[in-house]
Amino acid sequence: MLGRLAAQRFREIRQAFCQIPQASRSFSTALNYHLDSPDNNPDLPWEFTDANKEKVKEIISHYPSNYKQSAVIPLLDLAQQQHGGWLPVSAMNAVAKIIEVAPIRVYEVATFYSMFNRTKVGKYHLLVCGTTPCMIRGSREIEDALLEHLGVKRNEVTKDGLFSVGEMECMGSCVNAPMITVADYSDGSEGYTYNYYTSLQSEL
Ligand code: FES
Repeated sequence: MLGRLAAQRFREIRQAFCQIPQASRSFSTALNYHLDSPDNNPDLPWEFTDANKEKVKEIISHYPSNYKQSAVIPLLDLAQQQHGGWLPVSAMNAVAKIIEVAPIRVYEVATFYSMFNRTKVGKYHLLVCGTTPCMIRGSREIEDALLEHLGVKRNEVTKDGLFSVGEMECMGSCVNAPMITVADYSDGSEGYTYNYYTSLQSEL
């Protein structure tokens, strides 16, 4: 009974959020949580292509049949490759169905690992380190300079599709703080690389 009431309340809150105009919702991209949008909502159909369905079978065959949830990371990676480098909520739901877990079990993995992009990203996704050593050495100013130069907000893509700016936690280069990494998707999301740029200075 309580569970049903809570679920209903959650649905009401979600509907209320969805009615807020998109322009007033830019805080959601800044804070990295999901709100339904026309190209990212659970009602959009999503499934693996026939070729990828074969890969799904192959991936799942690596795990004991009672532990197929362990395939969540390679399946999310495959879904992200299929979807042009990012993971809409309906793709995460499709993965949850395949490995027979509640969708939240997949969301918690996709939101924890920064290799999974939950919004569209540019061909070059600039990830500013937001952890304390980089922050006290000026990573916020670096981010402000990038956003101002590109004319976007955090997690928005430039009109030409080339650049987006996001945040990553410590990348182990604190001695050369502040630093960013550039996720390079110019060879597609299968062959992306992360390139580090350290000891940065802002001219703002
Ligand atoms: S705090 Fe930025 S690399 Fe460690």
